[in-house]
Amino acid sequence: MATKPRKSAVDFLPTKRAIETLRRAAKSCKGCDLYKKATQTVFGEGPVRANVMFVGEQPGDHEDRQGRPFVGPAGRLVDKALTEARIPREEVYVTNAVKHFKWIWRGKRRFHQKPAIRQVTACKPWLEAEIEVVRPKIVVCMGATAAQSVLGKLVRVTKERGKFIESGSGPITFITIHPSVIYRQREKDEQEKEYRRFASEIKQVQRKLNSIKTVKLL
Ligand code: URA
Ligand code: SF4
Repeated sequence: MATKPRKSAVDFLPTKRAIETLRRAAKSCKGCDLYKKATQTVFGEGPVRANVMFVGEQPGDHEDRQGRPFVGPAGRLVDKALTEARIPREEVYVTNAVKHFKWIWRGKRRFHQKPAIRQVTACKPWLEAEIEVVRPKIVVCMGATAAQSVLGKLVRVTKERGKFIESGSGPITFITIHPSVIYRQREKDEQEKEYRRFASEIKQVQRKLNSIKTVKLL
């Protein structure tokens, strides 16, 4: 018996590869089941010629309602670290590995659920298209889901964080934690410690960006 091919975002990708065309097409994506419970598709945002792209896991509750990536508590931590590193947020393209919010009720709250590997794979064509169009110099993967999608393999973030991975072709990849790791720490000093390490990794990205820009000027 022939197995049914798995659904994916591929069937919804437009032929014209431009950010606005992709964003419009992603609105009606049914590449996996996640569109059913979510409010809307949350596509990436930022300049089309950004030097750096930040990739998260999936939209959270705030992002799902507002239709924009990283506008909730995780986004505030990213903003803070970007400001400290002197990387203007307007110069950064921000997106997620999965474009719909996966959640379950917990009491009266919509509670985040980790997307399954098959859902990350189903949504990957959107991220690949964004990388293809934006052509960033550096892709920053925040957390295991982003790293898994970008690198195509399971990654131990605790082991691989803080390193630049250069493949020769395509953008340089950098792995750091997902900012939600910071506010999930119970103790204030643990939160501070996690944040400091996250912020120092974003500064590493800034230094790398500067060195790339300097090379381009020579
Ligand atoms: N967490 C993510 O991974 N992405 C968002 O857009 C918001 C929170
Ligand atoms: Fe499509 Fe991704 Fe949403 Fe699934 S999560 S429906 S693949 S946009």
